[in-house]
Amino acid sequence: MAMLNLKGKHLISVHDWSTEEVLQVLKTAEMLKMCSKAGKEMKLLEGKALGMIFTKPSTRTRVSFEVAIHQLGGYALYLSASDLQLGRGETIADTARVLSRYLDGIMIRTYSHSDVVELARHASIPVINGLTDLLHPCQALTDVFTIYEKKGKLEGLTLAFVGDGDNVAHSLMFACAKVGINVRVATPRGYEPDPEIVSAAKADARAFGSEVTVLEDPVEAVKGADVLYTDVWVSMGKEAEKEERRKAFAAYQVNSSLMEAAKPDAIFMHCLPAHRGDEVTDDVIDGPKSVVWDEAENRLHVQKAILALVM
Ligand code: CP
Ligand code: NVA
Repeated sequence: MAMLNLKGKHLISVHDWSTEEVLQVLKTAEMLKMCSKAGKEMKLLEGKALGMIFTKPSTRTRVSFEVAIHQLGGYALYLSASDLQLGRGETIADTARVLSRYLDGIMIRTYSHSDVVELARHASIPVINGLTDLLHPCQALTDVFTIYEKKGKLEGLTLAFVGDGDNVAHSLMFACAKVGINVRVATPRGYEPDPEIVSAAKADARAFGSEVTVLEDPVEAVKGADVLYTDVWVSMGKEAEKEERRKAFAAYQVNSSLMEAAKPDAIFMHCLPAHRGDEVTDDVIDGPKSVVWDEAENRLHVQKAILALVM
């Protein structure tokens, strides 16, 4: 496969990237992971600076991006939004213009997706979406990489997402559609994925003849699936809805009986953090089918690939 030049490209949504570009991330991640395991340094971004803006908490995204840029020879600046002048009313556009004069890339985790779009519109350096209320593209690219590692292929597999039709489900639909994985999303009524995202993912999936389906019955979604995926029932910023959500999602727990409805060699995935006893039981997340720790590790390798390609 010819190398594409992705320098300067924003990663706001996987939907904006072509299948070839997504595959290039996966190939680069594979190479960087191999080098890292062999103890070979890959200083592809010597001296480059990545700003990391956070208005929401994070364990994996913050630590994996910071370690990723360091391993590539660059360095990270952690920028809490409340410490920036953004918190005192400086516009996103002005912030983007100024940060573009100091940095070589920006990773941002925040609430409103349109804020990330606005930042990217005014930045002259690549902007990477580290999660918004709408999307989580770095997670989804990591997830397809992990599926490839575990299954040895992508096209024709089926992933069942059971739970909230939220940012993680949205990006998974996009990423799976780009590589020919069928996606079934099972949610309680009222928690379905965004219909515009569903129709865009369906259009991408059509190129492969694969399918994106939204349904209500978790058992039906999981039947014959190769991958069973879930996410928290209460995403960051939705804490006030905790009690009603725990009731609405009670029948959507991934436990051993739901796991049994999938293929015998199915794997269990979760973006983490997990709320054990809610969306997943201990025996599933700690069981032999769970790949969640490899999945979390792969955030590092895949984000190194993204940084090395766009910065
Ligand atoms: N999965 C994920 O993005 O984790 P953090 O919220 O810890 O970054
Ligand atoms: N849907 C979750 C994902 C956390 C990585 C949230 O937005 O809180």
